[in-house]
Amino acid sequence: MIKAVDIIFGLAWGDEGKGKISNAISKNYDIVCRWNGGPNAGHTVYLNNKKYKTHIIPCGVFQNKLSVIGPNCVVNVDKFYDEIEYLQKEGFDTSLVKISPKAHIITERHIQYDLKFLKPKLGTTGQGIAPAYSDKMLRIGKLAKDYIDKKHIWNEELFGNILCEGAQSFWLDINYGDYPYVTSSETLPYAACSLGFSPKKIRDIIGVSKIYDTKSGVDPLFPESLWQDEQLNRLIELGQEYGTTTGRKRLVNWLNFDKLKIAVKTSGTTKLIINKCDILQQLNIYKMRFYNQKDGPSCLSFYNFNDMKEYICNEFKEYCEVVFSGNKENI
Ligand code: IMP
Ligand code: MG
Repeated sequence: MIKAVDIIFGLAWGDEGKGKISNAISKNYDIVCRWNGGPNAGHTVYLNNKKYKTHIIPCGVFQNKLSVIGPNCVVNVDKFYDEIEYLQKEGFDTSLVKISPKAHIITERHIQYDLKFLKPKLGTTGQGIAPAYSDKMLRIGKLAKDYIDKKHIWNEELFGNILCEGAQSFWLDINYGDYPYVTSSETLPYAACSLGFSPKKIRDIIGVSKIYDTKSGVDPLFPESLWQDEQLNRLIELGQEYGTTTGRKRLVNWLNFDKLKIAVKTSGTTKLIINKCDILQQLNIYKMRFYNQKDGPSCLSFYNFNDMKEYICNEFKEYCEVVFSGNKENI
């Protein structure tokens, strides 16, 4: 029987440090699941001061938990087995890793199409994500059950306490994001129900943001002129804002507080974790942006970090608890 489901997901454009947090809490659960995306995601996890990177396998495997890749994910078979081999070599029990028989397969043709037509225009990760989801919708896709070894095929049972970890994030969602500068899956917590549980089972919705914004890939909201800004460039270096999957330098801007508020309210976030606060403190400049149709763009500067924290807590007090976290801190 399912006891409760907690969901952890990103409130911005990805790369908020969700992996670190889900790894820290996953020991409290029986199953850790992914519900969306594929190898476009990149999870960085530190265990005993060692850095591990995964792209498709949920971080439950690091804590010896059943780790499920759900039916609304897309899987690159070669990359999946590469990751299995890597984790096995590192001493983790990969028999715990399961894929839904209904997950879809990314083929070489999907990757070639993405690299040729989508990556140059939209700055995708080039992993064949959109073409694989397109074939799924056209009902011509290939299913994991026919391509993955039976020992890694999930029996579609859920039980106990479940943690669902989102990939990509709120503003990359196919419905809510700034289309077409989005990914091809549903990144909001409601979509985790595609794993096969009732929305009534959802207990906590843990939304993760950073104290500043970053974007990998093309997006008119993040013009390349941002790379000319000296303070923001310092943030890139201090925060090491380079892609886990692509190694690309990210575009960085001050926190868009209006967007964060929309993401928190729409998603039903019950716990808001704001990450990388130590990086902003190293820069020692405390700014946020606002943008709404009525007032247009504006900026707010704070004298110190405590003032910024107080402002944020106050703005969210009727919605959720707020936790401020540092880059390497495990909370
Ligand atoms: P796709 O998911 O590869 O199609 O890429 C679509 C957009 O989402 C591009 O702007 C990517 O940079 C972005 N994106 C996809 N996955 C991630 C991620 O895990 N972190 C950050 N950005 C991502
Ligand atoms: Mg990531």
